[in-house]
Amino acid sequence: MSDRFWLPGERPGRPVELDEERGVWNVYGHAETLQVLTDPATYTSDTGRLMPGVMDDSYREGNLVRMDGLPHRKLRRLVNHAFTPKIVADLEPRIRDLATELLDEVEGRDELELVADLASPLPVIVIAELLGVPSGDRHLFKQWVDKMINFDELPMNDDPEELKREVAAQLAQVQPMFDYLHEHAAERRRRPRQDLLSQLVEAEVDGERLSDNEVVNFVSLLLVAGHITTTMLLGNTVLCLDRDPEQAARVRADRTLTPTAIEESLRVSTPSAILARATETAVELGGQRVPADQMLMLWLSAANRDERVFADPDRFDAGRQPNPHLGFGRGAHFCLGAPLARLEGRIVLNLLLDRFPLLRTIEDRPPTFMPSPELTGVSTLPLRVVD
Ligand code: HEM
Repeated sequence: MSDRFWLPGERPGRPVELDEERGVWNVYGHAETLQVLTDPATYTSDTGRLMPGVMDDSYREGNLVRMDGLPHRKLRRLVNHAFTPKIVADLEPRIRDLATELLDEVEGRDELELVADLASPLPVIVIAELLGVPSGDRHLFKQWVDKMINFDELPMNDDPEELKREVAAQLAQVQPMFDYLHEHAAERRRRPRQDLLSQLVEAEVDGERLSDNEVVNFVSLLLVAGHITTTMLLGNTVLCLDRDPEQAARVRADRTLTPTAIEESLRVSTPSAILARATETAVELGGQRVPADQMLMLWLSAANRDERVFADPDRFDAGRQPNPHLGFGRGAHFCLGAPLARLEGRIVLNLLLDRFPLLRTIEDRPPTFMPSPELTGVSTLPLRVVD
């Protein structure tokens, strides 16, 4: 497998290119991606507006990641109340216990399948616990999240009616999740508890609270945004170390490198590989004239290997500093869950290195990768853990 296996084909020739067939602009350069991410007035996150009527508005309100301007800032301030760095930092012992429990279940085995055994269940359990849903319902969450993985980027279809039907069919598959979350949100309004769901229904900014519908849509965003991406981060980091025994030995010997190794993994194997934006007006980007109302695909995975910014960009350097990767985005929409993802990454990597003398891929059962180009990362990762 080539060292470019994270990129869509060869390294792009230009930082911004029009894909005439799909009618979208691909943005590959680091500077150009930054330019888009930090100018939300010109590049809107509300890409749904290029396909009006495709998705019922009731599913859109509360979907932070697709909002702009003042409504985005207001909602973000509200949810920040329920998602502070202190709330996240206080989770450390609980996350360590949960990861330890999951690893105890595979104790004594010579081999693990890292994704199924640890990297997939852990983030979903953490979010379910944060929300305060009964732990017995975790398997439901896992099923729904698996279905939603590809929902964010709408299917490309020229026929608006067909597109509308496809989106409706996707949403119908997870209607039980929306119903479930509505029930729980209503219950928390009646009887608040010490959990994120109660904080979300009660959070107030300028005297305003979220509607149940906004709470439910925001929670479903958390589930999608926070689960599979973190699963891939955990698996990808172990895979990066497997591919580079010298760097693996370096991190084992010096655990102060764990945080920088996690950042480097986000750079070379960017889980959320593509973000979408639409132009509000005609603009000049990367030497190209992009008209108004155009869809842009920001290839974070390519920007993170831009040689104008990163020396020796294909090399995994566990101690790379500075590391201005765009794996969590940038600007107004910078990942709300970044502190949680970083914490989970650090805990899991340290735990794996503490527990297992070896973390080696298995020749006749190589890792498999997510099928979508939007998601860069392992979907299974069998590992040998003893000599
Ligand atoms: C936004 C990546 C984990 C919640 C984003 C964005 C990226 C990203 C690239 C920017 C989207 C944009 O600008 O359009 C990741 C990666 C993760 C991760 C790579 C794991 C390694 C999490 C977790 C949570 C979370 C654990 C929550 C539990 C969110 C939310 C937003 C977001 C709510 C929207 C913020 C906004 O629009 O203001 N994430 N994320 N993410 N992420 Fe994450």
